[in-house]
Amino acid sequence: MNKLRLGIIGTCNRGTLADYSHDPDDGVEIVAGMDINQEQLKQFSKRYEEKFQHKVNGYLDYKEMLEAENLDGVFITSPDFCHEEQAVYCLERKIPVYLEKPMAITTEGCDRIMRTAYANKTKLMLGHNMRYMVFTNKMKDIIDSGMIGEVKAIWCRHFISYGGDAYFRDWHAERNKSTSLLLQKGAHDIDIIHWLAGSYSRRVVGMGNLTVYDKLPRRTNPAEEKPNVSFNENHWPPQEQSGFHPVIDVEDHNMIMMELANGVQACYMQCHYTPDSCRNYTVIGTKGRIENYGDYSDQCTVELWNERVDSFRLHGDATFQTMPKRGSHGGADPKIIQGFVDHLRNIKAPVTSPQAARYSVAAGCAGAQSIRNGGMPVCIDPLPRELEEYCF
Ligand SMILES: NC(=O)c1ccc[n+]([C@@H]2O[C@H](COP(=O)([O-])OP(=O)(O)OC[C@H]3O[C@@H](n4cnc5c(N)ncnc54)[C@H](O)[C@@H]3O)[C@@H](O)[C@H]2O)c1
Repeated sequence: MNKLRLGIIGTCNRGTLADYSHDPDDGVEIVAGMDINQEQLKQFSKRYEEKFQHKVNGYLDYKEMLEAENLDGVFITSPDFCHEEQAVYCLERKIPVYLEKPMAITTEGCDRIMRTAYANKTKLMLGHNMRYMVFTNKMKDIIDSGMIGEVKAIWCRHFISYGGDAYFRDWHAERNKSTSLLLQKGAHDIDIIHWLAGSYSRRVVGMGNLTVYDKLPRRTNPAEEKPNVSFNENHWPPQEQSGFHPVIDVEDHNMIMMELANGVQACYMQCHYTPDSCRNYTVIGTKGRIENYGDYSDQCTVELWNERVDSFRLHGDATFQTMPKRGSHGGADPKIIQGFVDHLRNIKAPVTSPQAARYSVAAGCAGAQSIRNGGMPVCIDPLPRELEEYCF
């Protein structure tokens, strides 16, 4: 196996994902990390020291890190609004990139990243870890086996109890840093909808609004450090919380409808002030439907109904039990990181693709545009053929 020297841009929070790749016995080492925050760099060094008894180099400038370290690959786990600039810079220097979702905060940004990877013939893998979850794979297997016939419609409801902790206390709440939570959060689900349907959105309409978090007490000084935003089940109900981000202009409730290129119709609904959390998909085909109860965070069942009965049945004609695996996001994170290492070594192509990531951002952007313009339909431009067909 060829040795791999890897680095991280954005070392903490989601940056801990890269730790799954660090395996010196297998020739893979995290050697360096860059962060704009000196305190996070200290945490990064400490983490590697304590977890792996391993010394890493820290940088405050990612360009300096790339210059000094001769890396074989970089994890970009910085905030969404940094992705385009940082990915383009790495790819222009032919350094393979693992890029967190959403690929960028505009469709044009995604296209620019893809054009750069294509022009430099450099590997680009996207962090759509939901494609590595047990329950989504079970749904995909059932669909591919033909058990529900031809897929015609997909509905996804997304309940987010931790919206107030995770998205309205920092940059996520600002349009100019995230565009919309349809990208930040929804890009995952739109990608899964596209994957299960076997096609990408071409036309989107939406409705949504901001009615809860804009009315709650905010921090007054924009420069003030964000408070500890770790998820806390005692932060309930939302109306009794405070300390929110000074700028809040993204919607906390989003509903979009998508028409896919193969004719499948889909909808995605996302709410950030529900008491519980779950992603619930229903896929309807010409011979039946499936639905998941629970998702990656706990055991989950996928129910299959394929006999006609003119009333509701809680359990289907068949029930498929899935259990999360070890590791964060129900085991999806270690799996996707192994996928990146395998991709770098030309062992196996990833299940995610830049094309799919781009179309999920495009559908999220189109949804936000529609929502902000009275629900008008927004069409999505297809990629140019060379990018559509290229294996990144
Ligand atoms: N796939 C998933 O399941 C998943 C889960 C969480 C987050 N994410 C994605 O991961 C990314 C990071 O999310 P997060 O919540 O960890 O964000 P965050 O705000 O906590 O930042 C992550 C790290 O990047 C650093 N950082 C901030 N600005 C930077 C810059 N300009 N350059 C380099 N580093 C910078 C921060 O100091 C921090 O260490 C986002 O794109 C997010 O959408 C994906």
